[in-house]
Amino acid sequence: MSMVTTGYNQLLPELSGLLQVPRRSLSAQPFDGIAEGQAVAIGAVRFSLVVPTYNESHNIERIVALLSQQLDAVLPHDYEIIVVDDDSPDGTWRIAQALMSRYPFLRVMRRQAERGLSTAVIRGWQVSRGEVLGVIDGDLQHPPEVLQQLLAAITQGAALAVASRNADGGGVSTWSAMRRFLSRGAQLLGLVLLPDVVSRVSDPMSGYFLVRRSAIAGRSLHPLGYKILLEVLGRGEIEQIAEVGYVFQEREAGESKVTWKQYRDYIYHLLRLRVSLGRLGRVSQKLNFPFIRFARFAFVGLSGLVVDMGLLYLLHSTLGFGLTRSAIVAAELAIINNFVWNDRWTFGDLAQQQQKRHQVIKRFAKFNLICLMGLILKILILNLFFNALHFNPYLSNFLAIVMVTLWNFWINLKLSWRITQVK
Ligand code: GDD
Ligand code: MN
Repeated sequence: MSMVTTGYNQLLPELSGLLQVPRRSLSAQPFDGIAEGQAVAIGAVRFSLVVPTYNESHNIERIVALLSQQLDAVLPHDYEIIVVDDDSPDGTWRIAQALMSRYPFLRVMRRQAERGLSTAVIRGWQVSRGEVLGVIDGDLQHPPEVLQQLLAAITQGAALAVASRNADGGGVSTWSAMRRFLSRGAQLLGLVLLPDVVSRVSDPMSGYFLVRRSAIAGRSLHPLGYKILLEVLGRGEIEQIAEVGYVFQEREAGESKVTWKQYRDYIYHLLRLRVSLGRLGRVSQKLNFPFIRFARFAFVGLSGLVVDMGLLYLLHSTLGFGLTRSAIVAAELAIINNFVWNDRWTFGDLAQQQQKRHQVIKRFAKFNLICLMGLILKILILNLFFNALHFNPYLSNFLAIVMVTLWNFWINLKLSWRITQVK
C-alpha cells in the first residue's frame, strides 16, 4: 500500500464525542478538521500502533526508533505509529512532532481537552487507518521485539494478541513484593467480579496488545483508568486469543504515573463492566433501551422527591413561609439536586465530553424546561386517568408518575445530554 505524506509536521486534530472506533478506517473518509492543502497521510495500512504518552520526553525518540526498526522489517510502508500525548508539560508531543520529518509513518495527536491513558489509546485508534490496531507503552517497559510475534499471531487468525507477563517466557524484572502482591490481588479481584472476561487471558492488566479493528469497531467503549484491555475483552467480539510472553522491563527514564487512584478506578471499571455485561445489560442491548441509565435516572428522581418533601417541611412547617412560595423553592432546589446527580452519574459519560461552561448551563436550562413540561404533563395524565377513565386517584397518580418519569428520561437523554459531534 502506498502512503502519501507531506513535509508539514501537522498534528492530528484532537477528537471529542463518543469513544468508538469506526468500522472503516479513516482512509475512506475525508479528514475533517484539516484545511485543504494540508494533506495528511492517506491510504489504509495493515497496522496502526498507538503509543500513549505523558511526560516521556526522554523515551520518545528511542521508542519510535526501535518500533520503526521492528516494523520496517515485517511491514515496510504498511504501518503507522500514532503518538497520543496529553499535552505533557515536558513537551513530549513537540519532540514527537519534530520526529515526523524523519519518520513519515509517524503521526502525533496533542490532546488538550481530554485526559487519561485509556481514552488516549481509543482516540488514537479512532484516527488510525489500520486493519489491525495495537497499543504499547511509550516508556520502553514493553519490549518492541515482541511486536513481530504479536503480529504473526494475528496473521494466524487471532482477533486479539496479548503480550503477557504470565505466559511462557514472561515475567517482571525486579518488582517489589508489594507491587507483585497488588498486581496479583487486582487480578484476583477481577476474577471474582468479572470471571468471564478476566479469565480469558493470563495477564488482563496488560497494556501491550493487538486487536483486529473488526473486533471492536462500532462499539461504544467506556474505559475508566488504565485497563483498556478489560474494555476490549468485555465489549469487543473476540473469538480467538493468542498470548506472547514478555518480561516487563525496568523504567530507565521518566516516572510511572500509577497512583492509588488507578486502583480505585480499576475496581469501579470492573463493576461497571459487570453491570453492563450482566443480564440487564444484555436485555437492554437487545431491546435497545438503556435500562441501566433509566434506573439511575429513576433513583435520582427519588432523591429529588426526598429533597422536595424535606424542604417543603423545612420552609413551610418549620420556618412558616407560605405554601405556594415554599413549594416553588423546594421544587426548584429538587430540580437542581436532580440535575447535579444526573449530570455526574446518570449521564456522566456524556456530560464528561461537554464540560465547557456554556454547555453545562445549556444542559441545566433544558433540564429545567423539560421538568416543567413534565409537571404539566403529569397533571394532564392524572386527570385523564382519574376523571375520564375513573381510576382510583392513587393509581392514577402512580401511573402519571411512571409515564412522566419515562418521558422526562427520554427527552433529557435526547435533548439535554445528547452528544453533538461538532466541535
Ligand atoms: N496520553 C496519556 N495520558 N498517556 C499516559 C497517561 C495519560 O493520562 N498516563 C500514562 N500514560 C502513558 C505513559 O507515558 C506510558 O507510556 C504508558 O502510558 C504507561 O504508563 P506508566 O505510568 O508507565 O504505567 P505502568 O508502567 O505503571 O503500567 C504499565 O504496565 C501495566 C502492567 O502492569 C501500563 O502499560 C499499563 O497499561 C499496564 O497494565
Ligand atoms: Mn511504565
